[in-house]
Amino acid sequence: MTAIIADEPGPVDVLRPATVPVPPTYIGEILVKVAAASINPIDTKIRSGASPTAKALNYPATLGHDFSGTVARSPYEAHPLSAGTEVYGMTRLPRYSGSHAEYVSAPTLCVAPKPHTLSHVEAASVPLAALTAWGAVVDVARAHYGQRILIHAGAGGVGQFAVQFARFFGAEVISTASARNVDFVRELGASAVIDYTATRFEDEVSDVDTVIDLIGNVTDDTGSRSLRALKPGGLFVSVPTGSFPAMQSEADAAGVTATRFTLTPSGDVLTKITRLIDQGDVRVHIDKTFDLVDAAEAHAAVESGHTRGKVVLTV
Ligand SMILES: NC(=O)c1ccc[n+]([C@@H]2O[C@H](COP(=O)([O-])OP(=O)(O)OC[C@H]3O[C@@H](n4cnc5c(N)ncnc54)[C@H](OP(=O)(O)O)[C@@H]3O)[C@@H](O)[C@H]2O)c1
Repeated sequence: MTAIIADEPGPVDVLRPATVPVPPTYIGEILVKVAAASINPIDTKIRSGASPTAKALNYPATLGHDFSGTVARSPYEAHPLSAGTEVYGMTRLPRYSGSHAEYVSAPTLCVAPKPHTLSHVEAASVPLAALTAWGAVVDVARAHYGQRILIHAGAGGVGQFAVQFARFFGAEVISTASARNVDFVRELGASAVIDYTATRFEDEVSDVDTVIDLIGNVTDDTGSRSLRALKPGGLFVSVPTGSFPAMQSEADAAGVTATRFTLTPSGDVLTKITRLIDQGDVRVHIDKTFDLVDAAEAHAAVESGHTRGKVVLTV
């Protein structure tokens, strides 16, 4: 099969198309013929060597977590995800080879039937970003009516879902984005959107119950400055890696609870998300699609840090 491989960690030009074996499947796994696969910042961090996963991969390595496609091999004949079923989900690097390929194998636990209202391109954009948003906003922050949540980067891959989930569960959402994305994030359900390029968000918003930080201290001390927007006893959820454990002592001093968050892939949670999508409560935005062979260009787009919604590869 054709896959995009990296011979070693490095800049985008380490990525190249190659012919590699179709991945095997073992107990509890399915093989999916990939129709589309999205790119997440973690894929670019693994490629560049910034993520510890880069060291655990066997090279040449195929990257990519998200996919949407058709089951080519099911664990057994009467399995609910039988051959021919349209599915979407996540594979698990570094234990599996990635989804930026014609076929991917994945644990059935990380896969669900595709939303019938979405194309494969749209569906491929959902799993990792939406599962992250669900975990942070629903499982950890317990979004509910009466709660005020500040969500940074509401226009990004995770942010677009985080804003919509928080609104769906009744919370009031305040978000940050640059001017060109203010209307977009409002339409997702934020009641106020702060243009972070024009004003310091902590001067505009205070006493929120929860901050979902999708930016971190790597950019303008966004995490540390967010503590000032929280009310005493509030909850700070840090999603990008790299701000902890330094943030913990700052949060203690500010009298708020702080936690990092990392996602757990789950087909069951994906099924709940599917329902929200198919009933029209949650929508997805694709910034741009690229051909699989143009994966390097797609990585560069994601690395810009300013894509709206998601970047997807068509396979
Ligand atoms: N821990 C986990 O399990 C986990 C899972 C998923 C993602 N992550 C991490 O979470 C972060 C967000 O992921 P993502 O997929 O949403 O990224 P993304 O799609 O690349 O985010 C891009 C968005 O960020 C916005 N942005 C950039 N700088 C900003 C700033 N200073 N303030 C507010 N918004 C800003 C951009 O809006 P403008 O163009 O308007 O600036 C753009 O729309 C990444 O670091 C990713 O690695 C962690």
